[in-house]
Parts: sequence; C-alpha cells; structure tokens
Amino acid sequence: MSLILAIESSCDEMAMAVLKDKREFLSSVVASQIDVHALYGGVVPEIASRKHVECVSLVLKETLKQAKISVDEIDAIAVTKGPGLVGSLHIGLQAAKTIAMAYHKPLIGVHHIAGHIYANNYEQDMIYPSLCLVVSGGHSELVLLKAPFEFEVIGTTLDDAVGEAYDKVGRVLNLPYPGGPVIDKMASMGNHIYDLPIPLDDDSYNFSFSGLKSAVINLNHKANQRGEIINKDDLATSFQDVVIEILVNKTIRGAKAYGVKQVMLAGGVSANRGLRKAMEIAVNKLDEVELLLPPMSCCTDNAMMIALAAKEMYDLKMFSDLSLGIKPNIDLENESFSEVNRNG
Ligand code: KG4
Ligand code: ZN
Repeated sequence: MSLILAIESSCDEMAMAVLKDKREFLSSVVASQIDVHALYGGVVPEIASRKHVECVSLVLKETLKQAKISVDEIDAIAVTKGPGLVGSLHIGLQAAKTIAMAYHKPLIGVHHIAGHIYANNYEQDMIYPSLCLVVSGGHSELVLLKAPFEFEVIGTTLDDAVGEAYDKVGRVLNLPYPGGPVIDKMASMGNHIYDLPIPLDDDSYNFSFSGLKSAVINLNHKANQRGEIINKDDLATSFQDVVIEILVNKTIRGAKAYGVKQVMLAGGVSANRGLRKAMEIAVNKLDEVELLLPPMSCCTDNAMMIALAAKEMYDLKMFSDLSLGIKPNIDLENESFSEVNRNG
C-alpha cells in the first residue's frame, strides 16, 4: 500500500492530489487562476506566482482534509519540477521540499509531460510499446514509450505548440481565453468552408502550426478590411479539421512504423472532442492496437496526473534528493529510467 501526495504548479493552476496505491484518488484540488489571466488574454507569469504563494497552504490543507489523512501518513511527496514557469514551479517545489524535510518523506520530482502521459493510467493499465501524442499549450510531441519511464521523442513542434495556435486563433477571433475549448465547441457547429494550408505534411513526425495559425489570422484580417463577415463557427471547423488531420495522420503512421500496442493522447488539447473522435476512428482501423484516452478531468493541468506518474516512479525507486531545483526547460528523454539510473 502507498499514499502519495502530489503537487502541480507549473503554470496558472495550483493543484494537489492524494493517490492511494495505483489509482484510488482520496482527493484532488485545483485552484485555477484562469479568470485573472483571461483579463490579459494569456498567462501573466508574475501574477501566476503571486497567486500561487497566496493559495499554496490553503490548497494543501483542503487536499489533506478531503483525503482524511495527515501529512505523517503519506509515503512520498511528488512535485512537478519542470518544464514550466520559473516562479510558478518554485512555489510548488519549495512546498514539497519543506514537507519532505520536515516529515522525512521521500521526494519525487516529476516531469510535467510525463505527468500528462501517465494520466492515461487513470482507468486502465498502459502497455508497452506505446505511442503518445502529447498536445498541450506548450508542447506538441509524439513520444514513444518502450517500457515504463523509457521515453523517446520521435517528433516535436518546430514552432508553435498546438494549444498555443488554438489560443492565438481564439484571441484574434475575440473569443474568451483560453481559445481551445471554445473553438472545439464552435467547430462542432460549423462547416469546413474555408481553404487553409495543411501544415508540414512531410515524412517526419514533426509538427508546425505557425503557418496555419497565420493563415487563419490573415483570412480574418482581410475579411475585416473588406467589411466581409466571417462565420466564426465555419472558420473554427476549417481550422480544427486541418489540425486534427495532421495530428491523426502522423500518429497513425508512427504507430504502424513502431509496431505499438497502444496509442494514447495527453495534454490539454487531448480534451478536444473532435480529436478524440477522429483518433478513435483511425486507431480502430489498426490491427491489435488500442486507444487509451485520459479522462476529461485529467487532460488539462491537475495533480492527479503528477501522482500517477509519481506512483510509477515510486515503484521504480526514482527518488530525488533535497538538492532538487526547478528545471524550467527539462527534456523528457532525460527523465527515462535508464538515464536517471546511469546519471545516479
Ligand atoms: O496541458 P495544459 O492544461 O497546459 C499546458 O501544459 O500547456 O494545456 C492547456 C492548453 C490550452 O492551450 C488550451 O486552449 C488547450 O489546452 N485546450 C484545448 C481544449 N481544452 C484545453 N484545446 C483544444 N480543444 C479543447 N477542448
Ligand atoms: Zn500541462
């Protein structure tokens, strides 16, 4: 039996959760600051860290209260060490290190993207080898998992992350922040009538979304100049269709090339209904490959995903010492079990 307390504070959410054994959550609390940042059309790092300082103790108290446990009872404390915003990461890490030191608990420093990936363990076991399409506000990557905590990034974004493209398109169309969920909803109501360029449709597993984003922005700008009315739902559908097509095509090609047993989605954009549906249809056509999706509650940033990754690390004895510092730009492949062991 194990009890893990996990903290996630890499961006604009202060989240904590308590995980018992493999997948029984005793509590999960997310203090979102989205309303504050929405006033500025994006996350303001300085405001994010100040808000984290204000709420860190309250979130901890509430998380333990809901779980009906005291800090004494936990077996390990897990925390996102990076990547993310410097100030935001510091608050979560200092809280975790204080608990680790004061209560003599092992510390587990978790890579934020490993957390998103292991959110797939929420309901069902991940099996290997598997391929995960990581799509969030800061990342668009295809990650091959050869074994537990053995990551190989086979493709990445050359410019904007897909969530970033969604949010920038949302801003230009005057939609509420963040644009992703709003565009997803609008896309289900419109028609694909606008002709947009297919982004980086090559033999690699890399992505590029800035050209597509600029094409949407230019189309909107030119229409405004001519006094034409753009149908925003139709533009959302046209944009989302192109995004989904490229994400699904590259993922399926990778799944076949690497002979994986499972395909997974991870990150905030994995909450996209159009993407979930399209990936399900495409994976169903493959022989002996199953699709694993994180539950909607575990797609955008939360601490349950950090706890699920930490449980895997706990079993593999991948602990950190108290000298652990934040890693705002840390590479996912460096977090592989073999790398951590080799590096001591
Ligand atoms: O993983 P996440 O919470 O934070 C990062 O680590 O970046 O992802 C946030 C991103 C935002 O860009 C947001 O617009 C996008 O996920 N997002 C969506 C949807 N829900 C959230 N994008 C498209 N469709 C959605 N339903
Ligand atoms: Zn995230």
